[in-house]
Amino acid sequence: MSTFTYLDSELHCDGVSLATIARAEGTPLYVYSAAAIRERYRAIDEAFGDYPHRLHYALKANSALAIVRVLRDLGSAADANSIWEIDLALRAGFPPADIVFTGVGKAGHELERAVPMGLKAINVESAGELERVESLAARAGVRARVAIRINPDIDARSHPHISTGLKINKFGVPAAEARELIAAIGRRSHLSLVAVHVHVGSQITTIEPLRNAASFVADLAADLRRAGTPLEYVDLGGGLGISYDGQAVVSARDYVTALVDAIRPTGLPIVSEPGRAIVGPAGVLVASVVDVKPRTAASEFAVIDAGMTELMRPALYSAYHRIDPVRQAADQRRQYEIVGPVCESSDVVGRDRELTPLAVGDLVAIRDAGAYGSAMASNYNRRPLPLEVMVDDGQWRVVRRRQTVDDLVALERE
Ligand code: LLP
Repeated sequence: MSTFTYLDSELHCDGVSLATIARAEGTPLYVYSAAAIRERYRAIDEAFGDYPHRLHYALKANSALAIVRVLRDLGSAADANSIWEIDLALRAGFPPADIVFTGVGKAGHELERAVPMGLKAINVESAGELERVESLAARAGVRARVAIRINPDIDARSHPHISTGLKINKFGVPAAEARELIAAIGRRSHLSLVAVHVHVGSQITTIEPLRNAASFVADLAADLRRAGTPLEYVDLGGGLGISYDGQAVVSARDYVTALVDAIRPTGLPIVSEPGRAIVGPAGVLVASVVDVKPRTAASEFAVIDAGMTELMRPALYSAYHRIDPVRQAADQRRQYEIVGPVCESSDVVGRDRELTPLAVGDLVAIRDAGAYGSAMASNYNRRPLPLEVMVDDGQWRVVRRRQTVDDLVALERE
């Protein structure tokens, strides 16, 4: 299935014209395809075959309620990285037992609420955090289900900002320390160890780091069983990358096969926390050209009404996103530096792009923006968060309205 395709030279989302939506709602706006989200979720889920598993969608990738509800209806569980994402998950209808609580810095007030909730697991990141969870569990008179996040010292070979599995990264407990910590859990009456957890990075496009992390977990789980500490499941995190530029990347099927092959000898169910691979390609950011001006002899600036405030990835990681004109014109091509409206030189959305000639008012679609796009948007320059639209079954609807000036000052007291 092709989600975003040209019909009569105009880019459509599942048969709905992006220009029609933009005319009705203005730009910038995000457009998501419910069908693509379903298809991408199922591709991962079905690749497990009959091997016991559960997908916990990583809410941080995009926690728009409309998207989260689509995934819940498919049987997804949730991975929350803050108490606020837990609240969002509860609001979207996930029971606490379907939520894992991950994150390197869980504040006292977050744990205070999370511990008595009966979550599937709190993925603990340090000895200190384990102690804090235990004393809150004792105070609440519960036995908290915990997983230990281990730092396996594996290089994800992704962008350094989103590689998390090396010793030098802030995440998890070093493998050597983990065994001691796990042994200690057995002696605590208010904790029960349910899993070990790894997440070595995001936008991983080769199989080795993912396979190595899974093998690491399988070996540890086997050791623990021998030592009399059986686990309920293993949590292998997220990280499966997508192709932003058309180059081949590891497929969902190969990814899942590698995980299952590594874990099968332990017989343990697998928890996986995919985010980007499900929603990334299912969304575009539609923007209008607001100015065109000369740059070099060979290229021009095309200034658009979306930038680092709506999609931070290019400015933050030098990330590449394809940019397509919504209306395909003649064969002619010109070179553009596509830039946002924000007062920062880093606010470049696409460098050196060959596009059909652009004029003020033309629409462009920034592709693969469904993950870590809207979720990382900000109000810098007092720009309102973008409006969001979901296309489902040939119909489109606004799932988040645009912020107003009143919204932008609503929290302030003069
Ligand atoms: N589980 C844990 C513990 C995580 O930290 C993450 C992502 C995921 C799952 C989901 O990973 P995914 O399947 O989406 O790769 N803002 C960055 C990505 C940061 C990812 C953070 N953690 C970006 O725009 O590329």
